[in-house]
Order: sequence, then C-alpha cells, then structure tokens
Amino acid sequence: MLTDFAEVVSPGSADERLLTSVDWDRLPRHLAIIMDGNGRWAAQRGQPRIAGHRAGVEAVRAVVDTGARLGLGALTLYAFSTENWKRPRYEVDALMRMLRKYLRLELDEINRQNIRFQTIGRIEALASTVRSEIARASERTASNTGMVLSVALNYGGRAEIVDACRAAMRKLQAEGKSADELSEEDVERELYTRSLPELDLLVRTSGELRISNFLLWQSAYAEIYVTETLWPDFRRVHLLEAVVDYQQRSRRFGGLKLVANAK
Ligand code: IPE
Ligand code: IPE
Ligand code: MG
Repeated sequence: MLTDFAEVVSPGSADERLLTSVDWDRLPRHLAIIMDGNGRWAAQRGQPRIAGHRAGVEAVRAVVDTGARLGLGALTLYAFSTENWKRPRYEVDALMRMLRKYLRLELDEINRQNIRFQTIGRIEALASTVRSEIARASERTASNTGMVLSVALNYGGRAEIVDACRAAMRKLQAEGKSADELSEEDVERELYTRSLPELDLLVRTSGELRISNFLLWQSAYAEIYVTETLWPDFRRVHLLEAVVDYQQRSRRFGGLKLVANAK
C-alpha cells in the first residue's frame, strides 16, 4: 500500500504520482526482469563493462526494495544465463564476486523486509564460495513469508524444461506409467519455479526484443514490457511505470473475454 512507501517517496515526486495510479488489487503476482544493458551503459561512459555491472547492483537494490513494498508475491531477476559462460573469464568472475558481495551486504535488509531468497538454475556448476553464500542467504530467509526473491543463476529456460521433464519422467516410471501419460501439470510441478505464483509480467531493459532463454515455459501468457532504459539506470519509477502499464493490458489467454489481471 501507499503507506509502505511513505518513508522513501517524497511528496510531489514522479514516484508518488505513479504510486497513486497503481491498482493495489491487480498487482502482478510474479514479476521477472531480464536485467540487460550494463555493458552499453559502461561503454557510453568510456568505462569497462564491469563498471556497468557494478552500477547495476544499485538497480537491483531499488527493485527488490520496491517489489517488497508493493507486496509482490514473487520477483525473479535474471543475473546469469547458461549462455553467459561464453563471456571472458574475468567478466564471469567479476559477476560472481559481485553476487557474493551483494548477498553479504544485503542479507540483513532482505531479511528485515521479510523476503525469502532463493536461486533458480543449475547452481551446482557455480564455485563453492558462491554456493555457500547462496545457501546462507536461502537458509537465513527460509521462513520469511513476504516476497520471494529468486535470482536466476546459470539459468536457461531450455535447461529448466529438460530438468523438469527428466524429473517428471522418473516419477512416472516409478509409478509404472508410460511416457504418453506425461501431462503439462507433471512438468510444471518440477519446474524451478514450482513454488512461485504464475508469471504475470516480464520486463526487459535496454530495448532488446527477445527472451534470451529466460522463463520459456512460464512466459507462455506473461505480459511483456520492454523499456529502453539501461539496467544501471533502472529505479523505482521505472518499475512502477511497468506495473501501471501492465495493469492497463487486456489479457485474454486465448479466449474472448477480458480477464482481470491477477487476484
Ligand atoms: C546484463 O548486461 C548483465 C548480464 C547479462 C550479466 P550485459 O552485460 O548483457 O550488457 P550489454 O547487453 O552488453 O549492454
Ligand atoms: C540476458 O542478457 C541474460 C541476463 C540478463 C542475465 P544477454 O545480454 O546475455 O542476452 P543477449 O545475448 O543479448 O541475448
Ligand atoms: Mg546484454
């Protein structure tokens, strides 16, 4: 509610104006963001790509805080894809270092905001130093009841579907059933996002019109919002703009009748 923003939003600001336009009964249950444009942000300033990633951490803080205050059910952030290993080693290392630092510095605040932290993706492939920081944050926040913050790390939508199909098939086999009996529900139950609400809104920054292997299954009927804003420049006002835009969409899910957004 509006009062949750009282301490951070100044009267008469663009944030406040947008907050008064938010329909609090039709918030996206699950909002996911493809955080893109860090390299271009740095290049525009004649800085190395890593400076863009560092600046991007401030945007992460802003959206996590805003998502929690809005009362979103789930916020999922695409931080590292299964394809991002193609980048130079020093860039990959820098991203992993920043993730660890973010978790160390932000864990108290995340916990204070009643956020439950988790990762999605094949994290077993990450360095043990990163995994232990992830485990610490996940365990510390496991019983929190507010927004679920999922960070997608070594995440690929295709890998997720393959992992889910394998798990679903193993269960069928154990029950003596055949592959023909595999249903959408069986697969859905094994997705990394199985504990999360339906994906309602997918945001991509930096203007690229593609999904880049993110939440392929979940985005079947998600609303898509693309902004030209580069990720390091993304702040509360941009997230609110996306939410307000989403609330003006008419969702039909293949039918003819308009379906009210969320709840
Ligand atoms: C997004 O910014 C961050 C990650 C993919 C980790 P990019 O690094 O892709 O920035 P651009 O797209 O090159 O500007
Ligand atoms: C998508 O951005 C991955 C993340 C934001 C983590 P990329 O920059 O890797 O995607 P492409 O290469 O432009 O498709
Ligand atoms: Mg990119």
